[in-house]
Amino acid sequence: MIYTITLAPVLERTLDVEEFIYDDVNHVISENRKAGGKGIDVSRVIKELGGYSVALGFVGGYNGREVEGRVVSEGIVCNFTPTSGETRMDIVVNQRKKTMQTLLSAPMSPVNPIETTAFYSRIKDIPPESYVVMVGSIPEGLAQAFWAQLIAVLREKRVRIVLDADNEPLKQGVEAGPFLIKPNIHELSRLVGKNVREIEEIIEETEPLLERVEYVVVSLGARGALGLSKKERIHAVPPKVNVRSSLGAGDALIGGLVLALDGGADFREALGLGVSCGTASTLTSGYASCFRGDIDEIRKQVLMKNI
Ligand SMILES: Nc1ncnc2c1ncn2[C@@H]1O[C@H](COP(=O)(O)OP(=O)(O)OP(=O)(O)O)[C@@H](O)[C@H]1O
Ligand SMILES: [Mg+2]
Repeated sequence: MIYTITLAPVLERTLDVEEFIYDDVNHVISENRKAGGKGIDVSRVIKELGGYSVALGFVGGYNGREVEGRVVSEGIVCNFTPTSGETRMDIVVNQRKKTMQTLLSAPMSPVNPIETTAFYSRIKDIPPESYVVMVGSIPEGLAQAFWAQLIAVLREKRVRIVLDADNEPLKQGVEAGPFLIKPNIHELSRLVGKNVREIEEIIEETEPLLERVEYVVVSLGARGALGLSKKERIHAVPPKVNVRSSLGAGDALIGGLVLALDGGADFREALGLGVSCGTASTLTSGYASCFRGDIDEIRKQVLMKNI
């Protein structure tokens, strides 16, 4: 089974207006509400591919209820931990005339220690051999070492952890020994303390990480992704596409990759599907959303190169 964790889900509310007028009444033409957050996005991609996952994380207040309801109505199983604070709501004002988007991003209410304990009790039920995807930033109230602490607990249960984080949470997470990490080149540069860009440099700088992590997948935007282990070095190169938005492409990559691994595919095959999902997600405007038809079409065109 696959579990995804979204520590700070968000209710995304998009309001379409013709043109935004300050200090006046603006009539909303249409409104869209969606459950957001990187782990939820990964679960959504898994669902699109016909797979199952359980979305975990914290939700609170009326916004939290709506997030939960929307996740369930999309057919995604979830087991969120309730919080006393309200789940944040992001508002996007979409000006049709100027094709301009303005994001009003609200802060997340802090998570308290009792809620953290309740979350841990849900984690205890995760069976061995499962995959757990930890993705995104850590909200206020939780330690920067939160992912690392969770990895330490889950590793003992022989659970495979896929970590996509940045800065200190990534550094400490790597020390705890996850199964796989998926930095982009900027996250990798911060992790190794050196600006890396070229394939050779990436391979060189990643080598020491493979003492702690079984697989490192470095996503390279339009250049695809490098999949590295002690035994394999693969560069998955996607076809050129007309990109609408690359936001959340990394999450789409993780969705495909983890679903394939959980289904018994080897690393090479999983990397190919992951890159196909990442590239398919750039064809749509939403975060990480992608369509099965695009994924299948792109998969035929992804070049798998041994390095
Ligand atoms: N411009 C692009 N053209 C084709 N494919 C792309 C492009 N940008 C991203 N991708 C695909 O998506 C995958 C992940 O992209 P990227 O490296 O941008 O992840 P990321 O920086 O972690 O993204 P995010 O954090 O926003 O989810 C790439 O490996 C590639 O397959
Ligand atoms: Mg990313």
